Amino acid sequence: MRIGVPKEMASGQTLVGASPDTVKKLIKLGYEVCVESGAGVNARFFDDQFEAAGATIVSRAEVFASDIITCLDTPPMADLESMHKGQTLVCRMNPGANPDLVEKAQSLGITALAMDMVPRISRAQALDVRSSLANVGGYRAVIEAATAYGRTFSGQVTAAGKVPPAKIYVIGVGVAGLAAIGCGVSMGAVVSATDVRPEVADQVESLGGTFVEIPVKQESSDGYAKALDDEQQRITLEVYKEQAAKNDIVITTAQVPGRPAPLLITAEAVAGMKPGSVIVDMGASPLGGNCELSKPNEVVVTENGVTIIGYTDLPSRLPSQGSQLFGQNMVNFFKLTTPNKDGKLALNTDDEVVRGVTVTLDGTGMWPPPPVKVSADPAPTVKMEKEEPEPKKKMNPAVWIVPVAILAAALVWFAPEAMKGHFVIFELAVVIGFYVITNVTHSLHTPLMSVTNAISGIIIVGAALLIGYGNPIVQALSFVAMLVASINIFGGFLVTRRMLGMFQRSSEK
Ligand code: NAI
Repeated sequence: MRIGVPKEMASGQTLVGASPDTVKKLIKLGYEVCVESGAGVNARFFDDQFEAAGATIVSRAEVFASDIITCLDTPPMADLESMHKGQTLVCRMNPGANPDLVEKAQSLGITALAMDMVPRISRAQALDVRSSLANVGGYRAVIEAATAYGRTFSGQVTAAGKVPPAKIYVIGVGVAGLAAIGCGVSMGAVVSATDVRPEVADQVESLGGTFVEIPVKQESSDGYAKALDDEQQRITLEVYKEQAAKNDIVITTAQVPGRPAPLLITAEAVAGMKPGSVIVDMGASPLGGNCELSKPNEVVVTENGVTIIGYTDLPSRLPSQGSQLFGQNMVNFFKLTTPNKDGKLALNTDDEVVRGVTVTLDGTGMWPPPPVKVSADPAPTVKMEKEEPEPKKKMNPAVWIVPVAILAAALVWFAPEAMKGHFVIFELAVVIGFYVITNVTHSLHTPLMSVTNAISGIIIVGAALLIGYGNPIVQALSFVAMLVASINIFGGFLVTRRMLGMFQRSSEK
């Protein structure tokens, strides 16, 4: 079958439905691929690159004559009208909000697959275009903030004085929020984040951020937040106002499915922010965003010098990356629906992922699909009558201390007169060494290893002095001492080298 990739027609859409890399992968699945001339220019993917990947460059009409058309957004009506029974359209459709589109697909007799309706189950993550674009958008939100902020994000000590790190506060820790946290931390900012779902705290901390607890906590059964009641709203707004005043940059990503973006930052909170602060409202929309003063697709600078960015096209501001990830989601979708890698689309509607995206099948209305339980739903806690594990029996220290003490005393007692003093020192050193080493915290093991290396050095010197001694037993012992001490020193160097290697970028190795 032939897959056609048209140029996106929506105003401001810089992404394209495939990259040269994903074209190659589609061809490996047995498909022929054609790309509209100039389709990838805005994403910096040029016709000759697509050709080199194996695609043919064709006109728009030829793309729409393909068996399957894959693109970002629903094509304009004129293109849709040119489609006919037997063809398949794969793109974002938002069928819930576009009943006309569903009707049109039915009347044309086409198969319409909505990639923005991929169910949010673990198995489907690889083809979830919403996550890919939210991820790119969250990253780009930080870049926009950095550009508007006018200062460095990382703290520095320069000859001209000390520069404090920027402080970023992220509200809403879904896919976009996590990407923003990761990007902010990697740029050297001090990042904190909040969500009404307290279970995301570990994710924030694993990315190097700090979770700011809020007095409102939601038990989420499906991973999504619910709308807050008036009292909860009042409490959260107070926390967000306080945090906004403390931070330099606020990035808001909060959404509640099926509702306009919740209000997080009021005009009063903006008034309390420091001049030069920046807000990036990822929820900005004509229906109202996360910030009371944001305007969709505009940058507003308030009287007190706060910049509020309301771009709604953040993924389109990273067009190559966005297109690559979107294209890869498409490849993953075709992997699922082309099990024999024979270039033939096989839609198995018993598969909940395929069923979830199927809006029409050869003109038959399939929307809406039966509900799917999302993977974010915490697994039901199966309470099992567990047998309590038997507490570990601790060995009574007297069991081993007493015989060891008797042995040590006997060693000194029976030793020749000249050796007695040496044995006493040796035994005391063993006791002190045992307690010192076992009580050193793990974080100090590396300096401790350096000390043991120094001791090994002394052992080698001692053994080198004794190896010339005529007695073969002394010589053998000296040899063993030198060997063991050398293993300790050179082994230590090897381990240190490997540990340092873990902190080096591959380009520095
Ligand atoms: P989203 O875009 O719906 O919302 C963003 C975040 O805002 C959420 O974490 C939400 O709890 C938070 N939020 C809403 N109202 C808030 C308020 N008043 N104050 C503070 N925070 C507020 O979230 P997204 O990115 O769609 O992720 C939602 C869930 O779906 C997550 O648990 C995510 O792990 C899961 N997910 C699962 C996927 C899969 O399994 N295929 C794919 C993508 C997401």
